[in-house]
Amino acid sequence: MKITVLTLFKDMYEGFLNTSIIHRILEKHLAEIEIIDIRDYSFDKHRHVDDTPYGGGAGMLMKVDVVHHAIKENSSENTHIILTSPKSWPLKQEDLVRLSKEEEILIVCGHYEGIDHRIEKYINEKISIGDYILTGGELPSMVLIDGILRLLDEGISSDSLKEESFNSSLLEYPQYTRPVEYEGERVPDVLQNGNHSEIRRYNLKMALRETLLYRPDLLENRELNKEENELLKEIKNEL
Ligand SMILES: C[S@@+](CC[C@H](N)C(=O)[O-])C[C@H]1O[C@@H](n2cnc3c(N)ncnc32)[C@H](O)[C@@H]1O
Repeated sequence: MKITVLTLFKDMYEGFLNTSIIHRILEKHLAEIEIIDIRDYSFDKHRHVDDTPYGGGAGMLMKVDVVHHAIKENSSENTHIILTSPKSWPLKQEDLVRLSKEEEILIVCGHYEGIDHRIEKYINEKISIGDYILTGGELPSMVLIDGILRLLDEGISSDSLKEESFNSSLLEYPQYTRPVEYEGERVPDVLQNGNHSEIRRYNLKMALRETLLYRPDLLENRELNKEENELLKEIKNEL
């Protein structure tokens, strides 16, 4: 997979691309990342990329001709082009899974007040990383790259990916490591007894509990089986 990012702030990616799992994936050539400066595609010697909005209003807008030029020069007909924007529905794990199957992705980072609306003609989709406004698309692009690339990583077992929050529309169950007791809090006995079916049932119950407490909307959109319904009843009685 190749991911290209169009940004005004290339420096922001240095630490990100040279750390942890992302670094390992790039070293193993499982993916290639290219960070491109949008200013290189400006049409004037002062490398302007923005201008004032028609109709007034605060701030500056990035110019459609410059950004389109950068897109054209860095994509082919096989490229899936994403515009980072708060004006979309929020990103979900299933979007990352879908995007991890693309061969070529180009991510456009807005800045200032965003990009001239006409840019939407040249992209395949807009992605928001949540219902809040950030200064620019750089952090959202890193969220996308991180979320996509870790799905390609041979170092992460498919079991571990399967058990993560959202993969079964449930939040992940609580996990523990040594010491067995910390400031009076003990690791639950069931996790130490080696009985795999009890551990599975306990973890499922705890995943349902976390989801009920923090994201009940996920349960509404999920068909529960008999065991899950029983566990949910138990949880509600215990709360
Ligand atoms: C300050 S924001 C522009 C916000 C815009 N004026 C609005 O009210 O929708 C500048 C850029 O940051 C990026 N951005 C900000 N928040 C984002 C979010 N939640 N998800 C994705 N991109 C975001 C987008 O690329 C956006 O063009």
